[in-house]
Amino acid sequence: MITPNSISARSITAAILLFFSSIYLFAQSPGSIIPAPAEVRPAEGVYKYTGEPQIRIIRNAKGIVSEGYRIRITKGGVTVKAADEAGVFYALQSIGQMTRGGSVKELDCCEINDYPRFPYRGLHFDVSRHFRSIDFLKKQIDAMARYKMNKMHIHLTDAAGWRMQIDAYPRLTGFAAWRPEKRWKDWWSGKRLYVEEGTPGAYGGYYTKDELRDLVKYAAERHIDIVPEIEMPGHSEEVLAAYPELSCKGKPYSGSDFCIGKDRTVEFLEKVLDEVMEVFPYEYIHIGGDEASKQNWKECPDCQRRMKDEGLKDVDELQSWLVKRIEKYVISKGRKIIGWDEILEGGVSPTATVMSWRGTEGGIQAMKYGNDVIMTPGKYCYLDHTQDAPFKEPESIGGYLPLELVYSYEPIEDSMPADGLHHLKGVQGNLWTEYVFDDSHAEYMYWPRAAAIAEIGWSPYGTKDYADFKKRVVLDGEIMKAEGYNIFDIEKEYGERKASTRPIHHKAAGATVSYLKPYSPAYTAQGDGTLTDGMAGGWTYSDRRWLGFISDIDLIVDLGKTEEIRYIGGTFMQITGPDVYMPERVEIYVSDDGENFTLLNECWNDVPDTTGDLLFKEFSTVCATSARYVRYKAYRNPGKRGWLFIDEIVVN
Ligand code: ACM
Ligand code: ZN
Repeated sequence: MITPNSISARSITAAILLFFSSIYLFAQSPGSIIPAPAEVRPAEGVYKYTGEPQIRIIRNAKGIVSEGYRIRITKGGVTVKAADEAGVFYALQSIGQMTRGGSVKELDCCEINDYPRFPYRGLHFDVSRHFRSIDFLKKQIDAMARYKMNKMHIHLTDAAGWRMQIDAYPRLTGFAAWRPEKRWKDWWSGKRLYVEEGTPGAYGGYYTKDELRDLVKYAAERHIDIVPEIEMPGHSEEVLAAYPELSCKGKPYSGSDFCIGKDRTVEFLEKVLDEVMEVFPYEYIHIGGDEASKQNWKECPDCQRRMKDEGLKDVDELQSWLVKRIEKYVISKGRKIIGWDEILEGGVSPTATVMSWRGTEGGIQAMKYGNDVIMTPGKYCYLDHTQDAPFKEPESIGGYLPLELVYSYEPIEDSMPADGLHHLKGVQGNLWTEYVFDDSHAEYMYWPRAAAIAEIGWSPYGTKDYADFKKRVVLDGEIMKAEGYNIFDIEKEYGERKASTRPIHHKAAGATVSYLKPYSPAYTAQGDGTLTDGMAGGWTYSDRRWLGFISDIDLIVDLGKTEEIRYIGGTFMQITGPDVYMPERVEIYVSDDGENFTLLNECWNDVPDTTGDLLFKEFSTVCATSARYVRYKAYRNPGKRGWLFIDEIVVN
């Protein structure tokens, strides 16, 4: 590993030795550093050395911010100045990258002045959907540290398995941590059962407190805080299977949300958090808060009683009551909470930090309220989306998030309150692992995209240059590969769906479309004009080129005047994981008056819905006619129903 084991004064020499111990191929340059430093001033000359470079370290330096550092390279050696140990550590990371981990024995003279843009630079680990080894987590900590990331968010609990030893509730690990199916997908599409620990074939696992303490220590030595997440009140099927008395119906497998009406739920959560806080010293505890179904609460007498007693007008306020109650408890222990942006619903206390994932709107609203915010919008930060053309990548949950799109994310937006920008604490990349079965696949999903998150979090506004970043990623990627990391090869990137990269010129481009059945408000793309804007969609239905329907499609395109027509067609996407299917059939009609339509053709689907792959199919007809109006009707898959996504109605 390039990363020092420890950065205490005593071990600094050992750390530097470790730094330079590997063999690398590339010439040094200050420009090779990821994340890019705030300022590099080249100077005359070169510092040549044999063995190790001479590094003089000046601690407690004045005028340098926390985590910041300065490096001065002269012909005589290297001087590092920092105000704190994190700064020293990050300076050594930069020197390690400049010397390509020790293979280079000369450094260009220069001065580097570097400091982080944001204090929170995080990466998220979903160890519930698929359990990850401690060794894997340590290996990722090493990689995070080299890129100056400083928060590891571990999603320790979810339906797919509870992952932390809790002495007060042993069935969380004796039962709720184990399932019969290894792959989440098989488990989720099956009965979603849990099994006793030790059952032959049981899949899962959990971390003992000693293992977690060791992980905390390992991370702290690399200036990384661990943010533990304990989900509440939703995503908690595993807890309710082990302790059904915490559910509204009092039965296992009867819902995903804790019963907020029962006092024993609050007692459970407080006792669990006591043990969590005993193991994890970081000031912040993540309490989840996302995607509660809130269904059972509406009929549960206990929940209804709680709402009445507390004067809560709806189930959003009921969730908010729980979050505030838990927050009060956490604060009483000297800690603070982070929650997903749903914690805004029903009201949030000003001391909670909001993690904005459903876009950035929640985060911006929270900043207006005066809450601290961490940005992790799905469009840029969800590393579970595929990073290249789906046909060449492992199966994923869907979506398309190439390195360049991650890198393009700018956390500060015009609509943020100028006097509230100090509430924007930073950014995080999230890897949900429903489709990420083994450790090596997870690593592949993180790197190098997590390095882009690191640069967004660290480098100053206005310094981004994707071409330069990509070069640095290639250079550093060689080192990571040599160290045994399984990383995505950015040089072999295929890129976006080719059909979507240039405009389509056709007779319906710019034509007016009337929708006899409306498209879904969730996927409006460019609105009414989406299907005649001359642009095909890309690899993902959320790219605002695909129009989404949760019904059949029936629409009329008005070409403005009668036209000779030789072809009419539309392309659909299928990705069965998120319930996106081909239509069963499409009917294509034409008309001169917009009222009396003649059926030209029917196209039937022949794409199977038994594969999870991303597939495209054109439903079209070749014809020889003339007309002003085209009517396009698509009928949903009668067995599956689900979504239809179409990107353009092409007429030629
Ligand atoms: C989330 O992705 N459900 C926070
Ligand atoms: Zn209830």
